[in-house]
Amino acid sequence: MKTLTHTSHYTLCAYGELSEQDRNLIDEAKHTAERAYAPYSHFRVGAAALLKGGVVVTGSNQENVAYPSGLCAERTALFYAGSQYPDKAVEALAIAAYTEGAFTRNPITPCGSCRQVMLEMERRHQTPIRILLYGTESVCVVDGGVGELLPLSFDSLFL
Ligand code: THU
Repeated sequence: MKTLTHTSHYTLCAYGELSEQDRNLIDEAKHTAERAYAPYSHFRVGAAALLKGGVVVTGSNQENVAYPSGLCAERTALFYAGSQYPDKAVEALAIAAYTEGAFTRNPITPCGSCRQVMLEMERRHQTPIRILLYGTESVCVVDGGVGELLPLSFDSLFL
């Protein structure tokens, strides 16, 4: 028997320490959170994906009275990217959440289903996605790929 350990690598920094490109992508995610449809949770999430070549596509969470029918911001953005720009890799994804009158102090992290979709997008295009998780007090940057957030993931090789 042996026990193995996974380690995740991420960086915490202030918004002001980021490059202009990263800050712009976060700003897009924040603007997009305003367009969330979140009458049940009142938790408004925005995601902005930077595609190869510079196009930015955005998505916000879209809830439904039949709760599981709703969709998170990340998947709204990534499925839109996949349907409109199927040949373009996603190079970066910024996420921001607004609740109780303010953006969250700490970065929010994507749910498991969104991580799975992010991972597949990355593998599909063989391009690591730089992930920017926004909080007003700190920004979490994951630049080692989605695997940092989803170890032991399901893989097409298993099929
Ligand atoms: N949500 C997202 O859109 N992204 C996340 O990363 C976490 C959660 C949404 C789903 C639901 O509409 C609301 O936030 C509360 O969970």
